[in-house]
Amino acid sequence: MYRYIINGGKKLHGEIDVSGSKNASLPILAATIISGKTTKLYNVPDIEDVKTTLEILKKLGCKVKKDKNKIIVNSKDMNKTTIPDELMRKLRSSVIIVGAILARFKNVRFSYPGGCDIGSRPIDLHLENFKKIGIKIDENSRYIECKYDKIDSKNIELDFPSVGATENIILATIIGEHEITINNAAKEPEIVDLAMMLNRMGAKVYGAGSNIIKIVGVKDLKNISYKIMPDRIEAGTLLIAGAITGGIVKINNVIPEHISPILSKLEETGCEIKTSKDSIYLVANKHLKSVDIKTMPYPGFPTDLQPIFSTLLTVCKGTSIITENIFENRFKFMQEIQRMGAKVTIEGKTMIIKGVKRLHGADVESTDLRGGASLVLAGLIAKGTTRVSKLEYLLRGYQDLDKKLNELGANIVREEGD
Ligand code: EPZ
Repeated sequence: MYRYIINGGKKLHGEIDVSGSKNASLPILAATIISGKTTKLYNVPDIEDVKTTLEILKKLGCKVKKDKNKIIVNSKDMNKTTIPDELMRKLRSSVIIVGAILARFKNVRFSYPGGCDIGSRPIDLHLENFKKIGIKIDENSRYIECKYDKIDSKNIELDFPSVGATENIILATIIGEHEITINNAAKEPEIVDLAMMLNRMGAKVYGAGSNIIKIVGVKDLKNISYKIMPDRIEAGTLLIAGAITGGIVKINNVIPEHISPILSKLEETGCEIKTSKDSIYLVANKHLKSVDIKTMPYPGFPTDLQPIFSTLLTVCKGTSIITENIFENRFKFMQEIQRMGAKVTIEGKTMIIKGVKRLHGADVESTDLRGGASLVLAGLIAKGTTRVSKLEYLLRGYQDLDKKLNELGANIVREEGD
């Protein structure tokens, strides 16, 4: 596998384009199953999680063509309804393929998606709401089997605005003669992107982006082309990289309102931010100051940027209090940054960070996707050299993060290693 060798201390400056959204691409790729026709997708990020999802679609009998960020899926000859066990383990978010297979074939078989380093990642909200709308679920064998004859028109309520459960219920109910209303639905922009793509195919999904989403079943869908929205988490990661190095960066091909909580928190630390329709310009002043963060479902502060923003706070003047309300174990990455000199105490879902003047380089290991990105940003400002290993986590969700940061003036070398 690879590792990054990072020589710290370079201020980032310049402009960079953000890639397409990982978390919009995965449910949209799943949705290509439902039509049984051809779907052309543009601006799909060239990352491992997309490649794994394409492997699953091919194993199910779909024809897939990939030319870097352009993907064509023809699901006409799809003939399997069991998601391969080894691929389910590799990519737990492939659980949203379940909903798409149900919409097309009315039955599906899959194994429990594994948890990961940020939490147990259960799927109880997916399954209990499938049951409420008439989907029969058998969890007795090593597989979970779901099947139905007809979806029942229902008004359902999510106990928690789960992104995956919202997406799975939308996908599972696209086809049929029913009306489903999801109350307390997740409002993330990736769900709006999925709904826009489905509606272009001829589906009827209303209210995406609000907490009440209505799906009216239709008979069939058509061939379409669709461009994936920009990745708001990558945009936030690149902006925070500019801030942590005391640099001046401009992020293009982004939707500023998708990360407004990050922009206001960056301004609170002392950064200057200017936005246009599709770009964000950041000037990081010398001594940034500490701020408090509480992660919340959208439109609150996104949990995916908590590890990355927390890394910035390790070198901001003062004390910051971070409350992680979404995942039960999303501070693990910080153990590695403590080895670089960060002053942190963790009590349950609260992390207290006392800013230090500077971190020092070390050999560190990624524990998860966003934790890995945090270690890279720590390396950017650490004195000396930092080696970040176990990059397979990072390559799952960021397209060419090293190249993008080097284009802004960083000094990162990718080398073969553990
Ligand atoms: C999506 O995960 C994203 N992944 C995550 O991004 C993101 O952190 C998360 O939403 C929250 O915004 C993709 O879109 C592929 P949830 P998902 O269901 O759908 C609990 C990244 O780094 N829960 O909203 O799994 C769950 O345990 C990834 O790009 C249940 O209890 O998130 C968690 O505590 C990480 N039962 C909370 O809800 C369920 O049935 C939020 O989960 C489902 C979820």
